[in-house]
Parts: sequence; structure tokens; C-alpha cells
Amino acid sequence: MAFVSNDEINTIRSKANIVDIIGSYLPLTQRGKNYLCVCPFHDDHSPSMSVSQEKQIYKCFACGATGNVFTFVENYENVPFIEAVSIVADKCGMELSKDVLTNTKVDNFKEEHAIMELSQKFFQNNLKTTAGVEANKYLAERGITPEIINEFGIGLSLDEQDSLYKVLKKKYSEDKLLELGLVSSSNGNTYDMFTRRITFPLWDKDGNIVGFSARIYRGEKDTSKYVNSRETKLFKKGETLYNYHHARDVAKREKEIIVVEGFMDAIRLSVNGIKNVVALCGTALTKDQITLLKKLRVNVILCLDNDNAGELATMNNGELLEKDNVPISVIRLSGEKDPDEYIVANGIDAFKDNLKNPITFFDFKMNYYKNNKDLNNSVDLANYINEVLKDLNNSNDEILKEITLNKLSEDYGLSISVLKEKLSDIKPEKKEEKPIEVQEKKPRKKDSYTIGADNILYFMMNDGKFIKEYEAKLGFFDDEVRRAIANEILYYYQKEKKINIADFITYASSKDEIKEEVMRIVNDCNIEDELTIEAMDEYIDVVNKVLTTREIKKLKEDIKKELDESKKMKMLARMAELKRGSVDNG
Ligand code: UTP
Ligand code: MN
Repeated sequence: MAFVSNDEINTIRSKANIVDIIGSYLPLTQRGKNYLCVCPFHDDHSPSMSVSQEKQIYKCFACGATGNVFTFVENYENVPFIEAVSIVADKCGMELSKDVLTNTKVDNFKEEHAIMELSQKFFQNNLKTTAGVEANKYLAERGITPEIINEFGIGLSLDEQDSLYKVLKKKYSEDKLLELGLVSSSNGNTYDMFTRRITFPLWDKDGNIVGFSARIYRGEKDTSKYVNSRETKLFKKGETLYNYHHARDVAKREKEIIVVEGFMDAIRLSVNGIKNVVALCGTALTKDQITLLKKLRVNVILCLDNDNAGELATMNNGELLEKDNVPISVIRLSGEKDPDEYIVANGIDAFKDNLKNPITFFDFKMNYYKNNKDLNNSVDLANYINEVLKDLNNSNDEILKEITLNKLSEDYGLSISVLKEKLSDIKPEKKEEKPIEVQEKKPRKKDSYTIGADNILYFMMNDGKFIKEYEAKLGFFDDEVRRAIANEILYYYQKEKKINIADFITYASSKDEIKEEVMRIVNDCNIEDELTIEAMDEYIDVVNKVLTTREIKKLKEDIKKELDESKKMKMLARMAELKRGSVDNG
């Protein structure tokens, strides 16, 4: 990041009261000096999150979520840092200057992203050359206009084996290109990973190009329809939902997101004005993808392929979402194979009519259980009723239960009392532990060094006087992580001449090497305690004792091994000094 600490961002932070900002999303209750709320970052049932007005930070006792007003908005709204800053600014009637917006983008993969961008441009440009005639014809036939090509960055990989490699190798190392999955090498030759295909860039949740999916367009029979980038440090298939970065904001406005199977489906909906759509790209939803959807806090509409496979996928993905308490409804189109073909054949208005009347996931399941059953056959019917009741039993919606029992009674001529009895007979399924987004924090057994050292760093983040105390009485940690954090604190303080925990968190958030540990330390320390020099000194004493014991132990071992007599003498002297306890650790 270009700045040590940005004045403008710190000003916004100091003008925004974290209690008001979090309070604008969630109800807060005052408890002493602090405020409590139900933590939005895990499946919380009792208020586990504490918000400190004084320190302008929050922490969750259960899942470990910690941070300042910006990290809260970042995580709650699922937006990049700088967007969170601008949301906070907006909420308190301030505006963020262009300067900050352009200079504070943090990109840890700048070069990698540049390479992917360049590859995408190369592919897209190929469509404009004579090599692209056939591909353009294919795209035109599918109704992919030049505007759509631009919007979705569609391109063409050429017939030659190394046309992309030739372009990229002028500027980038082969290793880098191998690492990004753009080329492969065998027998000393380097080849493009994508050839003879229409290319579609894949983006991460923030809209960086991280990979490609590429489709045949000349009807080849001996190869798979699509090839995808392999997993790389940029591209994680299980964390990617196609079109998520385009869809996110619209989905929040519309309060719903449509999930389709293929990315041609997503493109087709999007270019027809339905922009709140993401594609699974042919896999079952992963935990990370569910988290992405869940973070939007909107209704999820599953609109998968119209065939049996799509029905099964609706069932499976629906159950995954349901388990995670995501509100779902379902659209089942009829006729064509998938939403893309449906819209091409019937027009967007026909699709919109479907969109107006999605069915609930429960109704979908009611229909689903009928598959392969002849309900005139009493054995099949009994099985069907059992499946429905079993499902109903898992619901705690009493009205839904009543309605469903009445419907079953009417449809199949069964007495309602029998159905009710049967329902109450079913043993409640052992409810699966509700899955949570963030792992529950396991209580760690902590040794005195950890507690002491963490608290010392925590004190230092809060006030310059504690930094001075550290420099005077301790001066170092013997583990690398804490040493790095202490160095960052000293560096920050030297530049800024002042420190407070909320602004230091902004700074630490931009440093990948220390970010997680800093948040852990803040979360582990007691944010309600009053911080005094006396308390700090006690922690310093503890740490000093541990450090001394460790050094003595190490000296003992080294002395045994040391052959040089004069060095040995020095070591013995140091050990005696340490044992007397009159040690200067400087
Ligand atoms: P589909 O076969 O339904 O693709 O696979 P589609 O979207 O209808 O593609 P078009 O319309 O024929 O171009 C759904 C998704 O599964 C993945 C792709 O992500 C595709 O969008 N897939 C499919 C592959 O990764 N490889 C394949 O060979 C086929
Ligand atoms: Mn298709």
C-alpha cells in the first residue's frame, strides 16, 4: 500500500462512530461501557459480539471476528477495503477524494493480474483478426453480439500451439506463466494451455481475471466441450461463482440472486437485463460459494438446467443452502435444455414470467418426491407420504405443517388426524450442528508467555506511552511473528507520532504478513480492561522471566557443544548474569 497511514481515511474513521455504523445494520444493546449484538459473521444465537465505543473496535467471543469500522463493513457488505471506506464516509455525510480511491487499492498479485489481463486482451483481439472469422460466425449464430463480447471479455485462442506464450514471454518469465496455468511445458517445449477455442475470462469475487474457460466452436468431437484453467494461486474453482462481481450489487438491490448452471446461461440472462445472476460452472455448491451467496443476505433462486440432472442438482444444492439457512426458491423451466436456450427460443419476457412465480423449495421437494412413483399404487403413495412427513418434521413452520397436512388429506383422501399422528410419531431427526461460516474459536490453553506477549503488543497498539515502556523494559520478542508485529507498531508510531488501536487496525489490514495475528491478538485481549502502565509492567515481567529461562536453557545446550574455551567462558558469564536476575535484555 502506498501509505503508512492515510490521513483522510483516518479522519473518516474518527468521524464515524462504530456504534452508529454497526447499529445501522444490526440492533445493539448497551451493556456497561460497551454494546452487544448478535454476531453476523457466524450462525450466532446469543449476542456474542461486543462493540467498544471507547476503542472503536468490535470483537466476537465465539468466532473470533475482530476489527474496526472498516473491517466490519468490508466483511458485512462483502466489499473491498476501499469500498468499505467509501460506504462509511457516505454514512457520515463525507466524500472520499479521487486521490484516495486510486492510490489505496491494495493488490498483492499486481503482476499476476496484469498477465491475466494481457492474456484476455490478446484473446479478445484475436477475434478481430482474420483468424477469428469462423469464431465470430459461431458467436453471432449464438446471438453473442460485439457488445456482449466486450462486456464479458470473450476472446479466441488460436490454432498455433504457442501464440500466447510468444506474446507473454517477451515480458514475463516462463515460471510465472506456468504458475498461472497459461502455458504448460513438456520435453523442453512450452505450449499454450488454451488453443482452438472461444475463451471466457473467469473472475474472482472482486472482478480480477483469475483464469479462463474455453469452448470448442468447430464441432470437434474428440475433445471436451469446455476446458478450464487448473487451480492456481489466483484461481480457486471452489471459491468462484461466475459473474459474482457483476451481480453482487444488483442482487442486493433486487433482494435476490439467480443461480444458473452454465456461464452461457448467466451471460444470456445478464445481456437481457437480468444482471443479478451467477453460474455454478457445472459443480455442486461448495462451502465457500455458499458463504459468498449468504453474505449477500438475499433470496437465492435456483434456476438450473431443465433435465433430470438439473432437477437432481436443484435438490442437492437446495438442501445445502437450506442447511445453511439461506432462503431459497426454485424455477423449473420446461422445454429447452437450459435457461440460455429457453430465452433464445421463447424470449426474455417468457423467462421473466417464470421469474415472477418461483416455487418454494419445499414445494419443489414435494414434487421431487413424486418422481418414479405411481401415486395410485398404495405402497408408492405410503412412501411418498412418509417422505413428505419426514421433511415436514424438520420444519418449525407450524403454518406450513398445517397447510401441507390439509393438502395431503384432500389430495389423497387421508384423514387429517392420522397424518397428524404419523407426523408426531416421527422422531425428530438429529439436527445437524448448524454449519457456520467461521470456525468456532476453540479455547486455546495459553502459556504465560503467549498471554504476556499478546497483551504487551495489544497495549502498544493502544497508546504511545506503552510503546515507550516496551522499548525501555523489554525491547524484543524471541518469536518471529511477534517481533514482526512489534516492528510494525514501532514503525507506525515513528511515522505517525501517535497511535490508537482502531487506526492501527486499518494499517495492519493492509499488511498480509501480520494482519491475521494482529486481529487474533486484539480478539484475545480484553477490550474492556482499563490499560495502565502497572498492568503492562506485570506482563513485561512475565515475558522477561520466560525469555530468561529460555535463554539459560539454550546457553546450557550451547555450552555443552562449544569447543572454543574463550567463547565458553563468555557463555558461562552470561548465564551467571542471567541467573542472578540482574539482566539487561537490550
Ligand atoms: P453445459 O454443458 O450445460 O454448458 O455445462 P452450457 O452452459 O450449456 O454451455 P453451452 O451452452 O453448450 O456453451 C454447464 C457448465 O459446466 C461446465 C461449464 O462451466 C458449463 O458452463 N462444463 C461443461 C465444463 O467445465 N466442461 C465441459 O466439458 C462441459
Ligand atoms: Mn447451454
